[in-house]
Amino acid sequence: MRIGETRRFRRDPLGYIEGLRRGSTTEVIRLPGGGYCVRDAEPAQTLLRSPEYHTGKSTFFQELLPTRQSQVEVGHAVRNFLRAGVPQYRAALGHAVTEFPDVSRWPTAGNMLVHRCLADLLLHPGTPAKTRRLANQAVRGGVVFRAPHVWQRARAEPLRARLVNALTEQVRHRREHRIDEPRDVLDAVLRACPPEVTDRTAAELHLMMFRAIVVPLGTSLAWSVLLACLHHPSPSPWPWPWPADQVVREALRHRPMPWLLGRTIPHPLELGGVAFQPGDLLSVSPYLMHHEEGQWSAPDVFRPERWSEPGERGSYVPFGAGPFACAGAAVAQTLLVESLTALARDAVLSVTGGDLRAVMAEGNVPRPFTLHRTLMPRGTSTTRERR
Ligand code: HEM
Repeated sequence: MRIGETRRFRRDPLGYIEGLRRGSTTEVIRLPGGGYCVRDAEPAQTLLRSPEYHTGKSTFFQELLPTRQSQVEVGHAVRNFLRAGVPQYRAALGHAVTEFPDVSRWPTAGNMLVHRCLADLLLHPGTPAKTRRLANQAVRGGVVFRAPHVWQRARAEPLRARLVNALTEQVRHRREHRIDEPRDVLDAVLRACPPEVTDRTAAELHLMMFRAIVVPLGTSLAWSVLLACLHHPSPSPWPWPWPADQVVREALRHRPMPWLLGRTIPHPLELGGVAFQPGDLLSVSPYLMHHEEGQWSAPDVFRPERWSEPGERGSYVPFGAGPFACAGAAVAQTLLVESLTALARDAVLSVTGGDLRAVMAEGNVPRPFTLHRTLMPRGTSTTRERR
């Protein structure tokens, strides 16, 4: 990538990929870092959904699990556990928001809020204090939310190694003392994980699921708060004119966290004049799919009310689509709505320093902004709640 291009990409990655689409005359866009992205939403949907591109395992789990079947089982086990844990998450949120500062720096504050409310579901309170402490440090220390710079990631590596060692010890202990009902995500992972998976790999798998849950939830909550505050029609009084559910859906459309979703080409294929070989990766961009004219009305406008309008449905893939789609999509939506509702209950929210341009971390992450949360008399709900 040339220096000017790198600068433009860093300044505004979503604007950059939009520019590449505008300049493209073929079905695939050549990405500056190498690789290709399908330009239009319809063939992108085919790539995500067609069984042709799902012959092997999903790359999401890297090489941590031996078969596609075991990947599916682990995903479902964690999803089921979290779904049952929604009331516990809601109760934790109730406590956390009473201590939430009037002025907070985001996205970090949102990341910490999500983790605080999930901490006991990820590792139950009976887990050795040292392991839970290391998990907390990993959230703050660049292991869970990966630091942007290579040197920062290198500095976080010893902490990551200590956490994996402690988790491996826990896996060994729990495999020797089996229990009937899962108490946390680690139990859920272990019950679904085939016995040939080593203790260390099971520990890595838990850390991977930990990150796969906390990172996109924290990021998507930050986008929801930022977008709703920036687009709240200024003369209109509180509450927000939209149900929290619509705010979250529209934030996931307007600023989807995943940057690219890739599928492996199973056989030689020519697309847009490019010859793909088996094993090549071809990607789709949820952002481009969510902003395609003709798929959505006024796609570049943040308009939560579109979710209550008939016929307003274009390609919507914040959680992917097809056989490799996110196992936790429905529970993630619920947790986000719960979080936004709790933050805005009996409070007026506003932001300063908000910028709609993303920064590229592990996906599209909002730039730092400040949230001002002014408490109102109890019972003055500031989002239209819908359960
Ligand atoms: C806002 C929150 C979340 C977002 C935006 C998100 C997004 C995604 C995306 C884009 C994928 C890849 C889909 C594809 O390639 O088509 C994925 C996969 C996955 N996600 Fe999520 N996710 C979120 C929360 C969660 C949660 C809470 C869980 C917990 C169960 C979870 C579990 C998984 C699993 C297990 C997979 C792999 C699916 C497979 O390959 O079988 N995710 N997620």
